[in-house]
Amino acid sequence: MDKHDLLERLLKSWQTSPYPSVKITSYFPAYVELFGHLVGTRCVFIETGVLDGGSLFMWRDWLGPQARIIGIDLNPGAQRWRDSGFEIFIGDQGDPNFWRQTLREIGSFDALLDDGGHQSFQQIVTAIEAMSFSTTECVIAIEDTTTSFMRDFSAHGAHSFLEYAKDATDLLTGKSFSLFRNRFPDKINNDAVHDFRHVYSMRFYSGIVAFCVNQEYAQTPKLVRNRPPAGAADFRYNGVTSATVSWPSLLSEANLVEVKGGTNGD
Ligand SMILES: C[S@@+](CC[C@H](N)C(=O)[O-])C[C@H]1O[C@@H](n2cnc3c(N)ncnc32)[C@H](O)[C@@H]1O
Repeated sequence: MDKHDLLERLLKSWQTSPYPSVKITSYFPAYVELFGHLVGTRCVFIETGVLDGGSLFMWRDWLGPQARIIGIDLNPGAQRWRDSGFEIFIGDQGDPNFWRQTLREIGSFDALLDDGGHQSFQQIVTAIEAMSFSTTECVIAIEDTTTSFMRDFSAHGAHSFLEYAKDATDLLTGKSFSLFRNRFPDKINNDAVHDFRHVYSMRFYSGIVAFCVNQEYAQTPKLVRNRPPAGAADFRYNGVTSATVSWPSLLSEANLVEVKGGTNGD
């Protein structure tokens, strides 16, 4: 099934869910990209945040009858959805111990979508605990990341979920430092890089950030050649030497900066 068909089917599953679900339009194509490969498979799909139960039915209709759909919520009332065949765990996603115990019970999973409390610390704890538990291929997606900028969610100060996620992308880059050790800063935080050792990629959408776990692809990169170099001159320092660009800053005025190039790798 192509992306277009997967999206059509997902929207239909959402519209025809027998119970209410509130989502944002841009999320549906992101779901197709992040979870489309699971449609029709015996997957394990976890969603934090059950509320009126509508999204549980959407996932079951879209992913198919073989999917194991698991809902997590702090509200004990969510247990009612067990009668409809869903697995429900009650607990606080901001508590690392809840995740450790619950994920041990669930076992390996293919996808975890967080649509729970949306506070930065809850989103960060959810991502950390899911990443540290996962050794098999899976997608951990944190939804409603716009709360990182919301006045009523601002208790995180400078430590919002989105700042955490943006900084975490450096750890993926840091895995490549061993390729040319003397060209990079001497001191790097190897423990932090280790924490992300199973994360192969991170995907940013408007309102969603996903951590894609794949142990095989996440291995320390190596430099490889298909055959010896043929001797062509590398013209990397022969072009223009700088560019003036508008820096992508959301909360400040347009900021034009000159980005200079080096002449010898500097
Ligand atoms: C946005 S609603 C979920 C919406 C649902 N996924 C849908 O699509 O309709 C958020 C849910 O997260 C739950 N929640 C809030 N804080 C939580 C926490 N700390 N741990 C677990 N669940 C929490 C709330 O009880 C609520 O049911």
